Amino acid sequence: MNNLKNLRGTVDLLPAQLIKWQNVEKILVEQLERASIKEIRTPILEMTELFIRGIGEGTDVVSKEMYTFLDRGERSCTLRPEGTASVARALIQNGISSNPLEKLWYMGPMFRYERPQAGRQRQFHQLGVEFIGYDSVRSDVEIIALAWDMLGKLGIKELNLEINTLGDENDRLNFQESFLRWLEKNKSSLDLDSQKRIAKNPLRILDSKDIQTKKALENAPRLFNFLSEKSQKRYIDFKKQLEFLKIPYLENFNLVRGLDYYTHTAFEITSGALGSQATVCGGGRYDNLIQQMGGRNTPAIGFAMGLERLILLAGKELDVPRNTDIYIINQGDVAESLAMNLSRKLRNYDLLVELDLSGASFSKQFKKANKRKSKSIIIIGDDEATNRKFVIRLFDQSGNENKEEVISFEDDIVLEKWINNNLLAN
Ligand code: HAM
Repeated sequence: MNNLKNLRGTVDLLPAQLIKWQNVEKILVEQLERASIKEIRTPILEMTELFIRGIGEGTDVVSKEMYTFLDRGERSCTLRPEGTASVARALIQNGISSNPLEKLWYMGPMFRYERPQAGRQRQFHQLGVEFIGYDSVRSDVEIIALAWDMLGKLGIKELNLEINTLGDENDRLNFQESFLRWLEKNKSSLDLDSQKRIAKNPLRILDSKDIQTKKALENAPRLFNFLSEKSQKRYIDFKKQLEFLKIPYLENFNLVRGLDYYTHTAFEITSGALGSQATVCGGGRYDNLIQQMGGRNTPAIGFAMGLERLILLAGKELDVPRNTDIYIINQGDVAESLAMNLSRKLRNYDLLVELDLSGASFSKQFKKANKRKSKSIIIIGDDEATNRKFVIRLFDQSGNENKEEVISFEDDIVLEKWINNNLLAN
């Protein structure tokens, strides 16, 4: 049993680290609730076919990165690599997509077999939002504004919003024909990886990070020039509305995203502070996905944020735990029972109450209360148990004792008044 370790690319999140995680999650979820977006929870394990059909066979995610296995019933199962395909499936299966106009969010672990590095794991966490049944340009802008404001609420600065349009299926077919011709002609100027993609997923070549390929692509045909007038107008309108909201953007004609379901708007939010894994949020419109998966023709748009990357970017102030309001020091058989009862009563006031269960000496318990920077302490020993009264002491911010009061265990009115005046005021 000596060498039992977690798998490469997965991490344990220990209590001290989780303070920041919980603060970040709370801020994000509050912002989603303010926008009246509802939570959806789908299974982590799905049929493999869902992702093959939803994300696309030629994508890196499906062809190289999925955790796929046969279960005991010989069914091919996959740990979800993302959330959009599952949300689409859940809506179709539960009949919701016959009356769409849903704004949904989800949060949880995703799995991709990638090379782990800072900000990239094999089990990572996403917070995703999907607007189902919305086709207006305004919904594209609303979803970007939502992502932008969520990141703003976390105090993350110096972010870049990159946008592009991928047009509709027809636009892309037109482009692909001429792009493929160009690729064949210029194959030798591309890196090996891009050469392999010509047959499998040519659009993804636009996203290559290879310097030589990037240079060569400068002379390639531009997708934008193959868009129908309607698609072009949609994109121009989209940019105008972003400008109206004063959300700064950069146009990146090579932004194609790694999943096959996108149409029209595609976007990413990146941070220079993250090194090579710079994208904190990625998303776009996927008007054909739900129909392709067997549902009705339902336009939709969404995004997902990588929580590990948000944690790296969020400030230290989110690393601070909530202070204990009351620390209960107690010793002796009757005293310990009374202390437990009192802790339950106090928690009904929404206070953070820590009951010392160590049975250690009073001085050791005092030291622990000090370490917690508790705003107040209650002391219950044999004397307090006999007299049916306990002592509560309040401290100021520098840890000096402010005042002390003796309260009877039965006197809820005096207790409530003390709490209101000293712990809940302001
Ligand atoms: P994605 O771009 O594949 O999009 O992932 C979204 C975000 O998840 C990335 O921007 C990144 O922050 C984070 N992420 C992805 N892979 C990893 C990893 N291996 N380790 C850590 N973080 C990672 C999607 O997944 C789409 N479902 C987004 C979407 C929703 N589009 C429409 N609706």
